[in-house]
Amino acid sequence: MRIRAAVLEEFGSPLVVQQVDLAPPGPGEVLVRLKACGVCHTDMYTASGADPSGYAPTVLGHEGAGVVEALGDGVDSLAVGDHVVTLFSPQCGECVHCRSSKTNLCLAIREQQNLGYLPDGTTRLSRDGEPMRHFMGTSTFAEATVMPAIALAKINPDADLEKACMFACGLSTGLGAAMNTAKVEAGSTCVVFGAGLVGLGAVAGCRLQRAERIICVDLSEGRLELARGQGATETMIGGDDTVEQIVEMTGGFGADYTFEATGNVKVMRQAVESARMGWGLCTVAGVAGRGETLDIIPRFLITGRRVCGSSFGGVKGRDQVPQLVDRWLAGDLDLDPLVSHTLTLDEVNRGFELMEEQAGIRSVITY
Ligand SMILES: NC(=O)c1ccc[n+]([C@@H]2O[C@H](COP(=O)([O-])OP(=O)(O)OC[C@H]3O[C@@H](n4cnc5c(N)ncnc54)[C@H](O)[C@@H]3O)[C@@H](O)[C@H]2O)c1
Ligand SMILES: [Zn+2]
Ligand SMILES: [Zn+2]
Repeated sequence: MRIRAAVLEEFGSPLVVQQVDLAPPGPGEVLVRLKACGVCHTDMYTASGADPSGYAPTVLGHEGAGVVEALGDGVDSLAVGDHVVTLFSPQCGECVHCRSSKTNLCLAIREQQNLGYLPDGTTRLSRDGEPMRHFMGTSTFAEATVMPAIALAKINPDADLEKACMFACGLSTGLGAAMNTAKVEAGSTCVVFGAGLVGLGAVAGCRLQRAERIICVDLSEGRLELARGQGATETMIGGDDTVEQIVEMTGGFGADYTFEATGNVKVMRQAVESARMGWGLCTVAGVAGRGETLDIIPRFLITGRRVCGSSFGGVKGRDQVPQLVDRWLAGDLDLDPLVSHTLTLDEVNRGFELMEEQAGIRSVITY
């Protein structure tokens, strides 16, 4: 079939919306008609050429939500008409990581996905007969996509897909960082650095875990306002003295749990140093720039602070994204303030501009 898609032709240049060919789903694969897709930093990072593993041409996009339109052979976990969220982090259920409760990093299709191929090493996307690689196994800046069934989470059909697409990346990452990775305990004190979609998700996750204090740090007063809406009990503008301020606000010790959701390695260091001696846990969710390293004074670790990273919030997508969506539908989460702009596919580059201007939290493309 022919679909319209936003193609990264050349690093550093705007995406070009055009017709491309999409082959039918092969064994274990699913054709999804997309309804919505969020515009995320990772798309822009790849488009800029800063990602050393990036390639072009490809169809970008990874925060998709849509409806199953056709099934390849052997797919029995989904049916035509199912509502799905796309998973750049799949869940095969069988690999050694899927069988462990300690990680969500499914190994089943990792290598091929990173190279831009579907699990069998080929692509369903093409142009003038030339194969074109997929992006993050998703390529959701398009009217439709073909993905492995293990990378699709079936969600409640009552969920509005224009908002549900946020569970495909940033929102689940933040929620999961608090709920899965850190497993915040009730009554604890948390600090969240960054109030983008990931940080706001972490604030909401701390609230759902019944943290007593949730301190959110950002550079933007507008974003801190949104953080209060998600459950932050205290907010502050970040700066060089943020650690001192947090230590002072927490009786001289620091917080039980800290979260970094900025991608800035200096802030990561602040998050480590704001964690409490004895048991403070710092969870790093931000993606640092190429070659950057995180400086930690070893004394902070010896005195009982711990640091861990979190990819997609430790969320096992097929099992847990539907659960998170259900919590939203039950009224535990308010996503309305998070979608700031609704765009058409032709306006995809505007989505990148809005992100650079930090205008709103998420721009969502609707199809
Ligand atoms: N681990 C994962 O699986 C995963 C998934 C999605 C995104 N990410 C990463 O998470 C990070 C956050 O993503 P996002 O979409 O929320 O980004 P965002 O840019 O919307 O939000 C980042 C926020 O950090 C704030 N900030 C910047 N410098 C700061 C400072 N010095 N002190 C306090 N706040 C500061 C900004 O004002 C902004 O509000 C990015 O690095 C992104 O690449 C990771
Ligand atoms: Zn993303
Ligand atoms: Zn697996």
